[in-house]
Amino acid sequence: MLPVLGALLWSSACGGGSDTASGDTAKKSESTTSTTTTEAPKAMLAATPPMGWNSWNQVRCPDLNEDVVKRAADALVREELDKVGYRYVVVDDCWQAPNRDAAGSLQSDPVRFPSGLDSLAKYVHDKGLKFGLYLAPGSQTCAMFWDAYPASGIGSYGHERQDAEMLQRIGVDYLKYDWCRADETDGLVRVDAFTKMHDELARLDRKIVYSISEYGETAPWTWAPPIANVWRTTGDIAPVWPSVAAIIDSQADLHPYAGPGHWNDPDMLQVGNGTFTPDEARAHIGMWSMLAAPLMIGTDLDRLTPEVLDALSNTEVIAIDQDPLGQQARRVRAGDGEVWARGLKGGDVAVALLNKSDAPLDIQTTLAEVGAAAGTWKVRDVSARADRPSTDSAIGATVPPHGLTILRLSPS
Ligand code: GLA
Repeated sequence: MLPVLGALLWSSACGGGSDTASGDTAKKSESTTSTTTTEAPKAMLAATPPMGWNSWNQVRCPDLNEDVVKRAADALVREELDKVGYRYVVVDDCWQAPNRDAAGSLQSDPVRFPSGLDSLAKYVHDKGLKFGLYLAPGSQTCAMFWDAYPASGIGSYGHERQDAEMLQRIGVDYLKYDWCRADETDGLVRVDAFTKMHDELARLDRKIVYSISEYGETAPWTWAPPIANVWRTTGDIAPVWPSVAAIIDSQADLHPYAGPGHWNDPDMLQVGNGTFTPDEARAHIGMWSMLAAPLMIGTDLDRLTPEVLDALSNTEVIAIDQDPLGQQARRVRAGDGEVWARGLKGGDVAVALLNKSDAPLDIQTTLAEVGAAAGTWKVRDVSARADRPSTDSAIGATVPPHGLTILRLSPS
């Protein structure tokens, strides 16, 4: 008998499963979300989770400059990370000169960006990559709080149209729009402020992926799907395993809200930074892929270890992240040995066995637990890139501490 996906867990995404990466931010459809739909898309922006590099986790604030960004773009191409999907090069906070000019326009810092953003965007585009930029809806950016960035009035409050038009002029493909306490500093209301920039982007001729960030404080997954392609679900990730493990834990109930064109964002990758073991780094990337999360690398690509480069380049893991159905994994068993599962296009099921304990753990599950119908399934260990014997019942693996094994089941 040909196995079919269990109706209990897997419903097919309805509407909007376009594979295209260009489209209209303002006219997205819904697929698996609980929010309402207004118009069907002509084509879809962020039909799969955006992938690329972002400056923040690598250099944070004062060390950001145009050479750092150019080197990241060079490395994405040299290491062939662009070929597996990492295409956005996003300049995070601290690119701005301390003040707007006399016309109220934002300027890039003249010392650290001597060639200017137009030139930098061209450099990135000439490599076949896409260019992203950071703005904030209030009057201040987060670095002005947390990094004592010496600037004034570089948030977009009162300049939304001007700043959106700047994005178009520069050739920006991805906007990260970051809250930064704009309620406290400017009395703004999140949904209104984020909708305002959505509306300004919708006026433009240019299609810009709209990634908003308010750290999951007001459950943005309940209100952001109609206005944003990506919304942060957590506070800032740190380059240590406990931070990654806590974020994974906090994502367990968010699967209904993700789908093509609109994604939960558990924050950017930290692999390559901090204290991760190779198993922890693989688990970080693998779980982000199970979660259908954006994969934004945040480390120095000139210093990647072979293990981290290999993990970032595992096309079988990336294929799960980028699966066109966009069904974010749900946790079917919690505890030290967790089991997560998600349905994939064509009837496959991805099963992740996550060992949160400090010792190796034998994690066993069943077809029934992961929602796969009775029958015989082929098993591919995508973490190890190796076939396993087919199964009609049990699925399992011995998983190292803080490690992850992802098994892809296919109807046989
Ligand atoms: C916040 C965001 C980070 C980064 C910084 C920049 O902390 O969550 O991802 O953008 O602001 O200041």
